[in-house]
Amino acid sequence: MYVLGIETSCDETGIAVYHSKLGLIHHLLYSQIDMHSEYGGVVPELASRDHIRKCVPLIKQCLQESKLTSHDIGGIAYTAGPGLMGALLVGAATARSLAWAWAIPAIAVHHMEGHLLAPMLEENPPVFPFVALLISGGHTLLVRVEGIGQYELLGESLDDAAGEAFDKTAKMLGLGYPGGPKLSALAEQGNKRFKFPRPMTDRPGLDFSFSGLKTFTMNTINASEKTDQDKADVAFAFQQAVADTLSIKCRRALQQTGLKSLVVAGGVSANKQIRAALTEMVVKENAQIYYPRLTFCTDNGAMIAYAGCQRLMAGQQQNLEIIARPRWAMSELSSC
Ligand code: KG4
Ligand code: ZN
Repeated sequence: MYVLGIETSCDETGIAVYHSKLGLIHHLLYSQIDMHSEYGGVVPELASRDHIRKCVPLIKQCLQESKLTSHDIGGIAYTAGPGLMGALLVGAATARSLAWAWAIPAIAVHHMEGHLLAPMLEENPPVFPFVALLISGGHTLLVRVEGIGQYELLGESLDDAAGEAFDKTAKMLGLGYPGGPKLSALAEQGNKRFKFPRPMTDRPGLDFSFSGLKTFTMNTINASEKTDQDKADVAFAFQQAVADTLSIKCRRALQQTGLKSLVVAGGVSANKQIRAALTEMVVKENAQIYYPRLTFCTDNGAMIAYAGCQRLMAGQQQNLEIIARPRWAMSELSSC
């Protein structure tokens, strides 16, 4: 079965076609970064309007380039949440309308489940059960994954998500939006000079907190002369602190669960220094680590098409309701 995937939860319009046996057929991504960067962050209303402009043309292009027509598509998967309400509604309404017109099922996909399953699109996919670290702009989650929809939350951020901390720290350093990749690029020029805290690592548990790190960063910047080198050194120290903190918690999660596979996904998993720290840790733990390819770390339609395809193949059905849920806990998902 060919499944069309539609992702519009934030600032990227992602469209893809996934086939249950042939795998990923094609994917297209339109990023709104240029539009939002003028404002220093995502402007929700502009995001919704841009999704409206891009969604249908990208679907047409994706089908055309895949040499498929609407008659070949057996189901449509769309991101139903979490995310920006207006942005979600565009994808949800488009998916539902096309599914109705084409007389095929549509399925609401949880955005973080999409991220979690993105490494399944790679050549050497992880095998259940595994521990997943999901690090995106809105979430930092450690999850024990027994199968699709079988998610036990092990830990989460009590305040800022990892990506959010990157974005806010980047702003303090005078870097534009999106902050994560910009801070990461600046950190490449930085040296080991400042020692930042590794929040919540000295007490038991698997929760995270990144807001103190933000304040520490602010104080360090203010106490410096704010030269380019100062900023690069601060970026380096901040990134290393996040990388170490994530690595310590993941090691703890592997030890606590006795599992030997770690999946890392979401926008922040594109970060080189974080990847290096986690890879070093799993080698010591005699475990395996799995990532999506870099283009599938951040938002994309392929992960949504994949997740929706698994659920549709398992026979899951939904009525004609247009589902958009800005807040949606993964624990509410059903297994399949
Ligand atoms: O998963 P994603 O594309 O969207 C959400 O679901 O939120 O993640 C976006 C987040 C942003 O906060 C962005 O700054 C961060 O991922 N990000 C990075 C990098 N690339 C994206 N953070 C650190 N290093 C990167 N290379
Ligand atoms: Zn995302």
